[in-house]
Amino acid sequence: MKVLIATQKPFAKAAVDSIKEVIANAGFEPVMLEKYAGADDLKKAVADADAVIIRSDIIDADVLAAAPKLKIVVRAGAGYDNVDLATAKAQGVVVQNTPGQNSNAVAELVFGMTVMAIRNMYDGTSGSELRGKTIGIQAFGQVGRNVARIAKGFDMTVSALDPYCPAEDIAAAGVTPVQTVNDLYSNNQFVSIHIPATAETRGSIGYDLIRLMPQGGVLINTARKEVIDEAGLAKALEERPDLKYVADVKPDNADELKERFGNRVFFTPKKMGAQTAEANINAGIAAAEQVVAYLRDGINRFQVNK
Ligand code: 3PG
Repeated sequence: MKVLIATQKPFAKAAVDSIKEVIANAGFEPVMLEKYAGADDLKKAVADADAVIIRSDIIDADVLAAAPKLKIVVRAGAGYDNVDLATAKAQGVVVQNTPGQNSNAVAELVFGMTVMAIRNMYDGTSGSELRGKTIGIQAFGQVGRNVARIAKGFDMTVSALDPYCPAEDIAAAGVTPVQTVNDLYSNNQFVSIHIPATAETRGSIGYDLIRLMPQGGVLINTARKEVIDEAGLAKALEERPDLKYVADVKPDNADELKERFGNRVFFTPKKMGAQTAEANINAGIAAAEQVVAYLRDGINRFQVNK
C-alpha cells in the first residue's frame, strides 16, 4: 500500500527519514511529494495513494474525488481546518490529527515573537520586559498549556479562557480561569490566541475585543488568520497607538497593516510555529505510526471526522 507524504512546506530531513522508515518497516511504500506547485500536482499524486500524511496542505472535495483508494488522511499537526471532513467521511476516509506533537514549538514562538515586539524589533530603542506582566491565553489546549508553562518561567501572571475546558482543570495547572472573552482582553496586557478556525470562531476577534486591551497591549496570534476580523484589527491599531499585533499567520491585509503601523505589527513569511526539527519529528513520526496502526490494525484513536 502507498503512503503519500504531501507537504508543500516540507518536514526537516531527519523527520522525513524517520517517517519513511516507520512506513517502510511496516511493509508499506512511502511516496514523497514536497514543495508541489498546486492542487493539480496533489490530485495526480493521490490517485493511487492508500494513505496521505499532510501538514497545512488542502484536502478538499476535489482532491478527495481524485483519490479512489484513499483510506486515511493524517494531518501531522493540530488544526484540521484544511481538510473537508464531511466529504472525507462520506467517502469512508478517516481523518486524524496528531494533537500535542508540535505544541511546544508553537508556544516557544509565541514568546520569541512577543519579546521581539516589546523590544521594538531590536531597533536600538529601549523596550520592556515580560516579568510581572499579565498574559491571557485564549483556549487552554495543548499549545495554550505550553504557553502557560513558559509564561510562568517569565514570572508572568497567567490566566486562560476555555469554554470547553473545566475551570478546575485550568486552575489545577496553576492558571486563573477567566469566564468571559471581554474579561480576558480587558485584564491582560498580552493575549495569546489558540482557538481553532471554525464557523463559530471565524472573524470573532476584532475591534470590540482588541480595543479593550490594557495600555501597551500585545496581541499574539499563532492560531489561524481567519479568527481575526482584519478590518477591526486595523481600526483598533489606528485608534490605539500603544497596541501591537504579532502573528505567525500573515493576514490578508498584511501589506496595508505594515504600511500603516510599521514595527507595531509583525508577520512570519509563512507559518513557522511548527517548523522546528523537533516538532517535525514528533508530529511526522506520530502521523506515520498512526497511518500504520490504522492500515494494519484499524486503530483509530485520533479520528476527527467521526
Ligand atoms: C498546526 O495546526 O499543527 C499548526 O498550525 C502547524 O501547521 P504546519 O504543519 O502547516 O506548520
